[in-house]
Amino acid sequence: MPQRSARARGVPRDAVHHPLFARCYARVSVGAETRMGMARVRERLLAGLSGRVIEVGAGNGLNFSHYPGAVSEVVAIEPERVLRQLAVEAALRAQVPVDVAPGAAEALPVKSEAFDAAVVSLVLCSVRDVPRALAELRRVLRPGGQVRFFEHGRGGGRAMTFTQRALDRTLWPPLSGGCHLSREPVAALREAGFTLGPYRRVMLPENGPALPSSYCVLGTAWRPS
Ligand SMILES: C[S@@+](CC[C@H](N)C(=O)[O-])C[C@H]1O[C@@H](n2cnc3c(N)ncnc32)[C@H](O)[C@@H]1O
Repeated sequence: MPQRSARARGVPRDAVHHPLFARCYARVSVGAETRMGMARVRERLLAGLSGRVIEVGAGNGLNFSHYPGAVSEVVAIEPERVLRQLAVEAALRAQVPVDVAPGAAEALPVKSEAFDAAVVSLVLCSVRDVPRALAELRRVLRPGGQVRFFEHGRGGGRAMTFTQRALDRTLWPPLSGGCHLSREPVAALREAGFTLGPYRRVMLPENGPALPSSYCVLGTAWRPS
């Protein structure tokens, strides 16, 4: 159960307000499960997890049906109201107990060292303050706990990275719920003091032309014991 309200930690209840993006994402993301292979990615992202898990920026809850039975509880934090309501509905269909709560990555409404694992998928691109969000993940993980991540970021050659940066400065964040294309999630995890476990680069979609959002990393990082 979430322990402290987001408001108590200085973040308003609906810290993220992107109703139009939320409705678009809810529709597009469901199609991407099969069309872009996202369901397979989610399966790999969550394989082998056990114990108490916090998922940050859970969106419409598309990860929920992929948690293994060894997971005893998922606390799913989602700041956007439309997506959170869809996550609540997805939680009812999940095979493991999922408790959906409002909150933001930068001020998680839970106790310290309360989780065996934390999950972020396609979220570090959108949070306002990446170092603060990762410091929060460290705080809520037990020593030796793991972060499972699937994130997109900077990639490709010079033309692609130029395009990513140009889009980040102009159209992309307002059109895509605050998302950025040229962040570097692996470097950010390292800088936040996590030990990088195995991770691999993934193109999404796997086949077809590379998009500015195609350059993904899928892996594990550990909070040192
Ligand atoms: C592209 S969606 C990904 C949703 C989901 N994780 C998935 O894999 O489908 C980005 C998500 O990050 C959430 N988000 C944005 N800013 C956030 C923040 N500061 N803290 C937590 N979540 C945030 C959005 O509300 C949205 O649910």
